[in-house]
Amino acid sequence: MTVPSDLSRLLDEAKQLLPEAVKLRRRIHAQPELGLQTPLTTQAVSESLQGLDIQIARGPSTTGLIVSLAGRQAGARTGKTILLRGDMDALPMPEDTGLPFASEIENRMHACGHDAHTTMLVEAVHLLHRHRDEFAGTVKFMFQPGEEGYHGARFMIEDGLLDADPKPDAAFAMHILPNLRAGALAGRAGPAMASADRWMILVKGRGGHASAPHDAIDPVPVAFEIGLALQSMVTRRHNVFDPVVVTIARVSAGTTNNVIPEAVELEGTLRATSPGARQAGKEGIERVAKNIAAAHLCTAEVEIETGYPVTVNDPGFVDFARKVARELGGDNGYIEMPAPVMGAEDFSYVLQRFPGCIFVLGVMPKERDPSGHVAPVHSNRMILNEDAMATGIAMHAAIATRFLAVS
Ligand code: NI
Repeated sequence: MTVPSDLSRLLDEAKQLLPEAVKLRRRIHAQPELGLQTPLTTQAVSESLQGLDIQIARGPSTTGLIVSLAGRQAGARTGKTILLRGDMDALPMPEDTGLPFASEIENRMHACGHDAHTTMLVEAVHLLHRHRDEFAGTVKFMFQPGEEGYHGARFMIEDGLLDADPKPDAAFAMHILPNLRAGALAGRAGPAMASADRWMILVKGRGGHASAPHDAIDPVPVAFEIGLALQSMVTRRHNVFDPVVVTIARVSAGTTNNVIPEAVELEGTLRATSPGARQAGKEGIERVAKNIAAAHLCTAEVEIETGYPVTVNDPGFVDFARKVARELGGDNGYIEMPAPVMGAEDFSYVLQRFPGCIFVLGVMPKERDPSGHVAPVHSNRMILNEDAMATGIAMHAAIATRFLAVS
């Protein structure tokens, strides 16, 4: 397949933007920020966009920005609007990459690549600004803090930033993946990422002497039984083609060897890729915990904290984005994801409002350890191939120009 000249030109220009992109990404990487307030990152974005003919909107709940760029295609009277999104926040964890531009703040790291997402979006503003005579309508760039569990996208929606005129007709985002070939794009129609709910179970019995369990009501074996029964529930109550993951990530009880504690805490996550499986999973956790506890004269308090919904890619938009990705990178430039990823994304809130999709961008590092292992996202050793950002910059620009082109 030959690559049409206009999209290959975008890729060439994106490559020319790489030195600026690398500088910006490293600046953001060294100063990671958490949660809904990312003032330094927002400052870096604003500075990088100075002098451009754009409009910037802000809301009260986050330091996020909506940057609007209007097309100026001659003769076009009206146009559509597309939203492109990049998240900005980091993770509360140490960085052990040894990079010269590693995090300067203890226990904070851009281990999920949001520094690259923000940078690619900034450079896409520049690229599209340069080409604004070639499209009609509006590109809205959503610079969003608080993706790592803080519901930043939902807050920006609640602040009215996304629905402001002109309202987007579609939305697009990318997430880097170090385990995928650098520069490759991947996606799928339908569920792309899972819902994620946090749950806690408090199993209560009666404390006592460890030598006389019959005089106490020992909650420890009951908690173990609940833990195993939850896995039986996953395999026996849920259709394997509508998957659910229940992971017990924390178990906490007791103080010493000769005391039966009064209570055991279990905490974990529930993942699903359909609303039905998610609901059944929530009900199941409660039913299993309470009834097993009751069978052994204990009680179980169950608390479920609702997290991000399932991220659902619109099939029509995926068709469109897939074609653009293939035009940009040739037939090898796009890989069909065989299954959803059970991680979660708050871009799901955006996709509940506007049709669109999230794609994955491969950023496999050039140098790897002898075993060939690649540190994944959320690893303290996660590194990425910065050259692959050129594909991300070009893809954002290509999606926008193609979507907004008036023929
Ligand atoms: Ni992420």
